[in-house]
Amino acid sequence: MASIRFNLNGKPQTADVVPDMPLLWYLRDTLGMTGTKFGCGMALCGACTVHVDGNAVRSCITTVASLNGKSVTTIEGLSADGLHPVQQAWIEADVPQCGYCQSGQIMQAAALLAKRAQPTDADIDEVMRGNICRCGTYQDIRHAIHRAAEIQRGGAK
Ligand code: FES
Ligand code: FES
Repeated sequence: MASIRFNLNGKPQTADVVPDMPLLWYLRDTLGMTGTKFGCGMALCGACTVHVDGNAVRSCITTVASLNGKSVTTIEGLSADGLHPVQQAWIEADVPQCGYCQSGQIMQAAALLAKRAQPTDADIDEVMRGNICRCGTYQDIRHAIHRAAEIQRGGAK
């Protein structure tokens, strides 16, 4: 067992885990935080996307041991009130269908907007292409990311 200290959604966290335990398992099974979803377990679908030091990562292949001293944000911590610009835009555009992929989509989109305030369609397609949606919400996602960018820049809410 290793004792790993990191920041989780703004609070200090100490995890006593076997060194190769994936973050996704720790979040869901140890902490009961089920907002982050298990899809493939092999970094192929994006359902498990969280932020580590502001970058979108696949928590299914990120070990807890690699997080010492880092900051992790999950969908539960993306905003205090559930109204991050991406979340506002998602609600407005009614993006989710079954919903399963959506926390990963939102976390991926939020990481994009943190780096690019006004992404182009090409930027969006490039960054979002690893996030799979079986319900085919891709067009709505692209539209909602443009809208989230507008909200983030202070556009009409
Ligand atoms: S569950 Fe991690 S990428 Fe699919
Ligand atoms: S909304 Fe159903 S898989 Fe994306």
